[in-house]
Amino acid sequence: MKQVTFRSDARDFAALGQGTWKMGVDPDQASKEISVLQEGLSKGLLVIDTAAMYADGGAERIVARAVRGRREKVFIVTKVWPTRADYRGVLQSLEESLGRLETDYVDLFLLHWPSARFPLADTMRAMAEAHRKGLVRGVGVSNFSVELMAEASDALGDVPLVANQVEYSLTARDPETRIIPYCQAHHVTVMAYSPIKNINQLPPAHKGSALLRELADRHATTPQSIALAWTIRQAPVIAIPKSSSVPHLLSNIEALDVTLTSSELTALDRAFPPSGKDMAVERL
Ligand SMILES: NC(=O)c1ccc[n+]([C@@H]2O[C@H](COP(=O)([O-])OP(=O)(O)OC[C@H]3O[C@@H](n4cnc5c(N)ncnc54)[C@H](OP(=O)(O)O)[C@@H]3O)[C@@H](O)[C@H]2O)c1
Repeated sequence: MKQVTFRSDARDFAALGQGTWKMGVDPDQASKEISVLQEGLSKGLLVIDTAAMYADGGAERIVARAVRGRREKVFIVTKVWPTRADYRGVLQSLEESLGRLETDYVDLFLLHWPSARFPLADTMRAMAEAHRKGLVRGVGVSNFSVELMAEASDALGDVPLVANQVEYSLTARDPETRIIPYCQAHHVTVMAYSPIKNINQLPPAHKGSALLRELADRHATTPQSIALAWTIRQAPVIAIPKSSSVPHLLSNIEALDVTLTSSELTALDRAFPPSGKDMAVERL
């Protein structure tokens, strides 16, 4: 089974976590969302990714209910939205997240996007303060370039930068150009978001669609699981698909044990060529 580590935590984790974007929106879906997250936890998917922004805190409330009675086992990641990235805003947003999550610490706290408004040094000073107080066990960023990761690390001083969460999949390969090599060299875990959604939207005529189906048949799994196996083929990448369906969850878990051969990887490169571009930075 493929595994990853976070430098802030001594444990090894399955290289698949659970996303929660769009959970906590509809109260009628809450018990289903909670039971899928709990099924994932019982199958060893212990990293749960959420954010203050998702459903305006609703996703964090779902996570709180899903982890009740086993919080210590779970690695909870949450995020502060960049419009609150000033020193006080970060600490207030964290306090609100801890309240909704019904916990007194998060395992990893990320700045959700680079901020257009606030200096990164102020944000990181607040993150480091939260770390010193034991409110967060690890500090990270999301949607950050190599230059911004280096700036964040400098601003954090002794507190290590643990992770960068970026969009990464067969159809979004920009992080391979510079971000993943930097993360490999600096022991920063890459959290790959939206690893499935664009695969689901591939036109049937796309040459990758038939290839994914063929590989899925060969490995006795689904095209989505092949796409996930590709995403987590190299350390230090963990993919965090979101699913509100047990059959989808079970198919995703199969990816942990799929090893693609070098000729299969070459065929995937032909169908989904590397972009060769650096990831564009957006500030919100
Ligand atoms: N840091 C950021 O800026 C950022 C941005 C976007 C996302 N994220 C995080 O990353 C997580 C994942 O990204 P995402 O939610 O955008 O996209 P995703 O996980 O790539 O795709 C989710 C969609 O794929 C479906 N799905 C899941 N497993 C499937 C399977 N085996 N077969 C077919 N369909 C399947 C889900 O449907 P069902 O629910 O019906 O299973 C859902 O519609 C988010 O939930 C969030 O935690 C972070």
